[in-house]
Amino acid sequence: MNNPYVPYPVRIDRITIENDERDLKSFELVFLDPAHEKAFQHAPGQFAELSVLGTGECPIGIASSPTETGSLLFTVKKTGVVTEELHRSREGRVIGVRGPLGNSFPIERMKGKDLVVVGGGFAFTTLRALIRYVIHDDHRTDYGDVTVIYGARNPGELLYKAELDEWRSRDDLEAHITVDEGDENWTGHEGFVPTVLGDVAPSAEDALIVVCGPPVMIKFTLPVIERLGFAPADTILSLEMRMKCGIGKCGRCNIGSKYVCKDGPVFTLEQLSGLPAEY
Ligand SMILES: Cc1cc2nc3c(=O)[nH]c(=O)nc-3n(C[C@H](O)[C@H](O)[C@H](O)COP(=O)(O)OP(=O)(O)OC[C@H]3O[C@@H](n4cnc5c(N)ncnc54)[C@H](O)[C@@H]3O)c2cc1C
Ligand code: FES
Repeated sequence: MNNPYVPYPVRIDRITIENDERDLKSFELVFLDPAHEKAFQHAPGQFAELSVLGTGECPIGIASSPTETGSLLFTVKKTGVVTEELHRSREGRVIGVRGPLGNSFPIERMKGKDLVVVGGGFAFTTLRALIRYVIHDDHRTDYGDVTVIYGARNPGELLYKAELDEWRSRDDLEAHITVDEGDENWTGHEGFVPTVLGDVAPSAEDALIVVCGPPVMIKFTLPVIERLGFAPADTILSLEMRMKCGIGKCGRCNIGSKYVCKDGPVFTLEQLSGLPAEY
């Protein structure tokens, strides 16, 4: 059995600066050993521990869909020791990836349903993986209508800008991209994510809603979701707790009896309502 603490070596193949503030970078990672790539079978919503030798490791959501082969994508905000070292990296550097870890979005349960995907800020990463998976030619007919509502503080802070343009032009996906404050070139929505969700008002009938974002966005979005008629069991969130082992051994990430790293990070609102409000 493989040691779950040992990372796979991966090469940083491409680095993209995602935002004007230059504190969000996407890293395309390529496995050095094809056998490791084969062993790393992930699903949308899972995360991995990225490690830099001599610095440490940190959990980051997998932003690429399993339908994108050849590399893994991670989008990282510069916040502290490990993420700063990742941001200092150049293309070609070898780092480690340990995973895939945690559970995933319920892609089987979502089949035949309409999907509403609501994201804010840089928590959009794993939602990108979910959207890419669902709209892939091999899967698109498995799912009903797909509505995406994604917001950032301003146009310069939106992730994956070229891809958002492509999504807006598709007729099998309804994409509502919003910013708190636009600029002279901005032609999309202006307003907070909960308000746009209320205005778009997607039907809750035979639908699931997935929400990822900063705590303040979640706080104001949940009442709108309830008003739209989505049941707690059909409302799906992904949590970001402080973590260490990522495999349910160290107890760093527990909420009540649940380990966010192993039982999550994806939970329904119904599951969360039975836990202490420590998230
Ligand atoms: C399941 C999961 C998925 C994540 N996905 C992403 C992602 O896609 N992109 C991304 O940029 N980040 C993501 N994060 C957050 C990321 O793990 C932290 O930003 C990272 O661990 C910081 O490590 P560091 O060594 O750079 O910072 P540290 O030096 O450890 O800390 C710097 C500062 O960040 C705070 N911090 C550290 N970890 C967290 C955390 N988990 N939540 C809130 N505050 C924290 C610390 O309190 C401190 O103030 C995710 C976290 C989890 C648990
Ligand atoms: S991070 Fe160790 S138990 Fe979850």
